Amino acid sequence: MDLYEYQARDLFESYGVPVLAGIVADTPAEVRAAAEKLGGTVVVKAQVKTGGRGKAGGVKVAHSPAEAEELAEDILGLDIKGHVVRRVMVAAGARIAQEFYFSILLDRANRSYLSLSSVEGGMDIEQLAVEKPEALARIAIDPLAGIDTEKATEIARAARFPEELFDRIVPVIERLWWVYRDEDATLVEVNPLVLTESGTIIALDGKITVDDNAVFRHENHAALAEAGDVDPLEAKAKESDLNYVKLDGEVGIIGNGAGLVMSTLDVVSYAGERHGGVKPANFLDIGGGASAEVMAAGLDVILGDPQVKSVFVNVFGGITACDAVANGIVGALGKLGDAATKPLVVRLDGNNVEEGRRILADAAHPLVTVVDTMDDAADKAAELANA
Ligand SMILES: Nc1ncnc2c1ncn2[C@@H]1O[C@H](COP(=O)(O)OP(=O)(O)OP(=O)(O)O)[C@@H](O)[C@H]1O
Ligand SMILES: [Mg+2]
Repeated sequence: MDLYEYQARDLFESYGVPVLAGIVADTPAEVRAAAEKLGGTVVVKAQVKTGGRGKAGGVKVAHSPAEAEELAEDILGLDIKGHVVRRVMVAAGARIAQEFYFSILLDRANRSYLSLSSVEGGMDIEQLAVEKPEALARIAIDPLAGIDTEKATEIARAARFPEELFDRIVPVIERLWWVYRDEDATLVEVNPLVLTESGTIIALDGKITVDDNAVFRHENHAALAEAGDVDPLEAKAKESDLNYVKLDGEVGIIGNGAGLVMSTLDVVSYAGERHGGVKPANFLDIGGGASAEVMAAGLDVILGDPQVKSVFVNVFGGITACDAVANGIVGALGKLGDAATKPLVVRLDGNNVEEGRRILADAAHPLVTVVDTMDDAADKAAELANA
């Protein structure tokens, strides 16, 4: 589970990580009141569980409560990569001298933790990793030993944080490790970690992901989850027991079996490069029994995503044969009626494939295109999404 920035801020505070005052608000009037309470310059920050809020116009500086209220009118309701802003945090304004980057994350490949740090903070870290990889220090962390003063100093040195700041930065790194360890996090990221003009170190923006498998160990995590407006599409999928994860692209994906769906995401991403950079809109595994009901529920969720421009149904017939899947698709489209509005590319293979394709051909639904191979189908779906 990803936490909101304000939740990360509160957790940081409880671990003694220096943060600025912040007040959450859901309406422009509340924003004004919060700005009055904080006084001086404030920053109105969209609270959504996605990155790049600043670039999307979701982080704005206000010099008065009236200006904060005005800015909140624009930020509340803003759509940032499919996440509508329902809540903002009004944060005290910092006078920033320098911005750094620091994170701790789970390194699955090496079965350990990894800290990433850099003097080049503030900017998009993925971009930094590509453009200036030498500016990003990677230090492995032994999960059993964790980060003590010595390790934190090693990290600060590798990042090339200014030596005269070590006395202030090292304790912050140690505390961020406590957050990571004691909250069972898989990510703790501070971007930017700032040096203020008055010489203090502050975590200005925090991202925390906690491990859902450890929720039972943390009474506070259930409350954190409740505050979350779970993605409405994910909530709807959950009601139908579907394995659905919302992504940022335009091509809706339905497949049977997690492995097949994962590789479908890959081929659609590749195909998308030839068609205006379109990307998969979701992960959806409808599992083994692709009945008409399950297919209809899946299609219903995907077609409800306003970002989706085309849908790729990629099914390999096994125990549930292709004819049953084809009947499922035809039945689902019948069930959805006018709610089905976007082109569907269907690729069937495996058990009883001829019969499956015949059923789809006979139904001749105007929205459905049957394509025989996975690569060609991905290409077609990407083309339609880009049309
Ligand atoms: N309280 C603050 N006072 C002064 N400047 C701030 C404050 N909060 C943020 N900023 C400035 O705005 C920039 C962007 O803020 P922030 O890092 O919170 O959002 P973001 O990085 O755009 O969002 P995301 O982390 O979702 O990608 C910071 O790098 C910093 O320069
Ligand atoms: Mg940031």
